[in-house]
Amino acid sequence: MTDAPLTAIADESAYGEAVQLAVDAAAAYYADGTSTIDDDVYDRLVRGIEAYEKEHPEQVLPGSPTGKVAGGAVVGDVPHTVPMLSLDNVFGAEQLADWAASLERRLARPVTVWSVEPKLDGLAISARYRRGRLAQLVTRGDGVAGEDVSHAIGTIDGLPDRLAEPVTVELRGEVMMTASQFEDACAKRQAHDGTTFANPRSAAAGTLRAQDRPYVCELTFFGYGALPAPADTSDLAVRLRELPHSEVMAWVAGQGVRTTATTPVAGIVATTVEQVQERVEQIAAARAELPFGIDGIVIKCDLAADQVQAGFSSRAPRWAIAYKLPAAEKITKLLAVEWNTGRTGIIAPRAVLEPVELDGSIVTYATLHNAADIGRRGLMLGDSVVVYKAGDVIPRVEAPVVHLRTGDERPIEIPAACPHCGDAIDASQERWRCVRGRACRAIASISYAAGRDQLDIEGLAENRIQQMLDAGLIADFADLFTLTREQLLDLERMGETSTDNLLAALERAKGRPLSRVFCALGVRGTGRSMSRRMARHFGTMEAIRAADAEAIQQVDGMGPEKAPVVIAELAEVAPIIDKLIAAGVNMTEPGVVPAATATAAAAAGAEPGAEAGAEEAAEPGAGLPLAGMTVVVTGAMSGALESLSRNEMNELIERAGGKASSSVSAKTSMLVAGEKAGSKRTKAEGLGVRVVTPEEFAELVGELV
Ligand code: IVH
Repeated sequence: MTDAPLTAIADESAYGEAVQLAVDAAAAYYADGTSTIDDDVYDRLVRGIEAYEKEHPEQVLPGSPTGKVAGGAVVGDVPHTVPMLSLDNVFGAEQLADWAASLERRLARPVTVWSVEPKLDGLAISARYRRGRLAQLVTRGDGVAGEDVSHAIGTIDGLPDRLAEPVTVELRGEVMMTASQFEDACAKRQAHDGTTFANPRSAAAGTLRAQDRPYVCELTFFGYGALPAPADTSDLAVRLRELPHSEVMAWVAGQGVRTTATTPVAGIVATTVEQVQERVEQIAAARAELPFGIDGIVIKCDLAADQVQAGFSSRAPRWAIAYKLPAAEKITKLLAVEWNTGRTGIIAPRAVLEPVELDGSIVTYATLHNAADIGRRGLMLGDSVVVYKAGDVIPRVEAPVVHLRTGDERPIEIPAACPHCGDAIDASQERWRCVRGRACRAIASISYAAGRDQLDIEGLAENRIQQMLDAGLIADFADLFTLTREQLLDLERMGETSTDNLLAALERAKGRPLSRVFCALGVRGTGRSMSRRMARHFGTMEAIRAADAEAIQQVDGMGPEKAPVVIAELAEVAPIIDKLIAAGVNMTEPGVVPAATATAAAAAGAEPGAEAGAEEAAEPGAGLPLAGMTVVVTGAMSGALESLSRNEMNELIERAGGKASSSVSAKTSMLVAGEKAGSKRTKAEGLGVRVVTPEEFAELVGELV
């Protein structure tokens, strides 16, 4: 594309350097997903090389990345039945229209059906099924032959071991990590050797190849094509060759394989280039909220006849094009590193960046993990750094771009004392902590505990907490419950009314459900929704405290990495829990029969369901109005629900037997949409998810409100 931005190349030596840079970058990218330059820079570079080669065909180097799949970077030893090609790119509406027009000229007829789907940012893979069983997995490699990665079978969500029918077919698609799989993979690697992955793409690349890791990370597959073996003349083979792409994809989904159809950016068909462009914009707008990375939109001729006639160039099909979106990864400057002590005493570095636009938002801060990680990456202040942010993933600094150093870079200062209180640092773990632990930022942990979504202690402002801390009346939030009227009256600016109000608020706080009391403890790895799951699973604080790591792992979303952290944290907050119990704070979750009691009852031969509570423990939510449903809330609540916070809405959903979620997907059963509902509503409507008003919802859950 001639009018796309490109890197200008002045002479033969600059051309040589450009080729080398592109080859190195492609090699790194395809080897382990890391790269010394970001995608935008790479694309510009290759376009510059192309332009130069057009002017100087006699100087073209054999190693040039132009015209090669994967920039010529990788090879493998399993030949592909049909080459796995690349896609040509366009970078805007005009270029898309030009491409479509030139394709229609080539075909000498209009293209009447286009398919539009997201370009998934992972690794291409070929999944070979024989008689319905997944027999072999092969990477793209150089497009002609790839690497056998069949050892990954069974670890890829969306790619079943068995298809619905005993068919022999090759499925092609993208293997990637969703935001939560990535988070989970980073936690596992962090626990294992203190390092993390740079971004979901390189995590997926490394994981797909890894054979002897002591931990297993899950991947996700999204199919985008199905092909019969070239010599196959079975009915299915003939049908797959003749069906439109959209129908092939529906068949793939029918075999139990994941496709983008289950996502908010599902593939659609369009009949005009305007409609195509409209869908491109919708997908681009949805990108920042997606739980997986996309780097563009793929537009294909939907009809088999159009595809056959358009054919292929050496590198890419002529019947498809990738509409590229700005890279989720960019290079910017590391200006400073800030060290902060969090609520639990963890001391974490944070990168301050020269603001850069990434995936639709301006990024100024990014995660840096820990001190050891900074050392391992060899980061320096003033470095140009690769920063990644896509969808739900928290922005993170990947690596310094060493060849861009000027000599003015300075070492990053690593604190010798807690940046908050100046006390010593416990550096025995990768994640540093103030030796004072939670006490270091007592004010932060107490106001968190008193917050609206936890104990909801009205009238307890931060300055009040500070006053009490200064007066030595409290050291943690449990001490609040033993404050006397006299002690409070003694505090400055504390009159009779405020004192009585606060005492009444504390009395109400004592009766909060276990989910909130547990959340108030601020145990690492357990936010609001995990605290609710813990409380519903165990029923009592006693049961939580008696649980070992294995028992804790039974809670939905608790992996083998998180569980031991929870146990260690519980030991640490044990004195607080003891004080809370002694003060008479509620330690049970209403409506839940503790797991231990339920099992005992079952062992004693109790009639199943003889007791409402027992039934609930056996099958959560059965008989309740939202049983088995996943519900998302958006917009402003009104009517009976007007005063409820999001957390309270989520609590209500769970009381009614449902599962609360924050994002709309094909798994969503219902969206409660209030005034000013935005993209979630559009998404839900697009997916055919039931949308109700707050009033309708209140009626549905009835007296549970
Ligand atoms: S179709 C003949 N559809 O993009 C090639 N590819 O740059 C047809 N990709 O190697 C590919 N999402 O790994 C197709 N919806 C999609 C895709 C997609 C991601 C990847 C694929 C391909 C690369 C080309």
